[in-house]
Amino acid sequence: MCGIVGYIGGKQAAPVILDGLSKLEYRGYDSAGIAVFGGEGINYKKSTGRLKVLENLTRGGADMPGCCGIGHTRWATHGVPSNENAHPHFNQKETISVVHNGIIENYLQLKKFLEKKGYVFVSETDTEVLAHLLDYYYKGNPMEAIFRMLRRVEGSYALGILFAEHPDTLFAARKDSPLIVGQNEEGCFIASDVPAILKYTRRVTYVDNQEIVKLHASHMHFYNIDEEEIRKEPVLIDWDENAAEKAGYEHFMLKEMYEQPKTVTATISPRIQKGDIRIEELDMSDEELAAVKKIHIVACGSAYHAGVTGKYVIERLSRIPVEVDLASEFRYRDPILEEGAMVIVISQSGETADTLAALREAKKRGFRILGIVNVVGSSIAREADNVLYTWAGPEIAVATTKAYTAQLVALYLLAMKLAKVKGTLGKEEFEHLLGCLERLPYQIERLLNTKEQIQKFANRYLAAKDIFFIGRGIDYAISLEGSLKLKEISYIHSEAYAAGELKHGTISLIEEGTLVTAVSTQPELYQKMISNIVEVRARGAFVMAVTGEDNREIGKAADYVIYIPETAPVFANSLAIIPLQLFGYYVAVGRGCDVDKPRNLAKSVTVE
Ligand code: F6R
Repeated sequence: MCGIVGYIGGKQAAPVILDGLSKLEYRGYDSAGIAVFGGEGINYKKSTGRLKVLENLTRGGADMPGCCGIGHTRWATHGVPSNENAHPHFNQKETISVVHNGIIENYLQLKKFLEKKGYVFVSETDTEVLAHLLDYYYKGNPMEAIFRMLRRVEGSYALGILFAEHPDTLFAARKDSPLIVGQNEEGCFIASDVPAILKYTRRVTYVDNQEIVKLHASHMHFYNIDEEEIRKEPVLIDWDENAAEKAGYEHFMLKEMYEQPKTVTATISPRIQKGDIRIEELDMSDEELAAVKKIHIVACGSAYHAGVTGKYVIERLSRIPVEVDLASEFRYRDPILEEGAMVIVISQSGETADTLAALREAKKRGFRILGIVNVVGSSIAREADNVLYTWAGPEIAVATTKAYTAQLVALYLLAMKLAKVKGTLGKEEFEHLLGCLERLPYQIERLLNTKEQIQKFANRYLAAKDIFFIGRGIDYAISLEGSLKLKEISYIHSEAYAAGELKHGTISLIEEGTLVTAVSTQPELYQKMISNIVEVRARGAFVMAVTGEDNREIGKAADYVIYIPETAPVFANSLAIIPLQLFGYYVAVGRGCDVDKPRNLAKSVTVE
């Protein structure tokens, strides 16, 4: 994880770097550091805690004059958050400075080698070996030292490097961790992600694996690992800069929840044309699609939960069997992929290490990969054979909301398309579903307007010890996501269960007053859910039900009910998740938690 930023140009570097880091804090926020060329070499400052501490320490960068520098915001992997472990790291003479995102897998081996040569380490990090290794190879030519170092290093890296003897140059390199470079009239930038530099430039170049960049104030050069200079074309980013700002909302998470009507529309509307679904990005004929025999969906966290919903929807509509895997399991379980199977990987960031590894595993076996990805140009987007982008825009809050609901509708589109070509959906039903799909954004908006009611209810559970979520079928998938939303930001223990499974053990955890959230949106399962609600209430549970407007029976069985507007049962998750997102959010706010940056987490999980 971690975020890196670098700048070289006509402006003061430190304020630009600190500002860029503030847009990357979602990548890590346990410590931060900055290094800038001053008159007499490289000056640096590090601090534990949020970026604010570093900003105060440097008076917003004013105390660190200079026009070239690098900065880092950390999510600890090797070594606790501390000043010593915070980046930048240095060689002993403090003439070479490195910021790093990624993991150097052979760092212990390299450390041993360097210690034998007399190098002394001051941190517990893997990154420090890079600074010493550069020192070891540096004989006056920085590029030569970088090439030699990179050939010895195993693992992943996005790097920003300064050499005190070359104050007019900033160096960068990348393998398996995201890195972009940008340029405007005043200077050149490096960053882990676009929002960090969007304020300064929209002309961005994606650095590919094992590429090295040499940046000067007015130009930059790209090289491959064979030391050949290569040409790369920038792309124009059309994001609105405000997309990465809070725009008056108390938290990014709240703002992003409120963007959902818009982001769901943005994901579905370009793919609905003249009463039909067109997913040109699939690049498959109807015959090829009809020949798909099985689907494997692979993802992590909430994206995995979207995949679980996708399984129910695709199987129900198209009758194609779907297997859903956690990417961290898929990559090591030697999965059986039959001929004619389609492999779908889902990722908001497009950088999740396990998902990327799973993609490569399936590709190695000769399978074509469809990526459902939010971040344009991310590693997964670039390595997948076809990409169905979710147009949710930049998502800053660590807990995903709008990217998740965009993933859901992308899967619905795919399910309907497959059903159509397979002939498992009649014309009338198809048209009905299309109408339901197009109504979702308005219905989501209606649900968002119930926020006060949900906030009031959430305030009753600020001291809860455990909260359970139950549901059957598609509602089980939504329970998984509702439970994750709550626990990751409020730190209240929560679990989701397939409602029929509760009595096989978990029901023993229900005590007087335990909150159980029962999601029941599938008419054929209403009666079963009523039985489960009755079971837990008989053990003292307080039941909050989330159900369809017309389902008054559940209303009578539960203690508190949230009704969602009428839609096709296969799409109900897109509505049921809204009150659950709001509930998790308001419980966390009420408990005074740092909603956008929950402890121990980071937005983009680029480590295993
Ligand atoms: C939870 C959350 C995570 C991500 C997971 C996968 O709110 O955001 O569980 O869904 O880390 O991330 P992506 O989608 O970027 O691959």
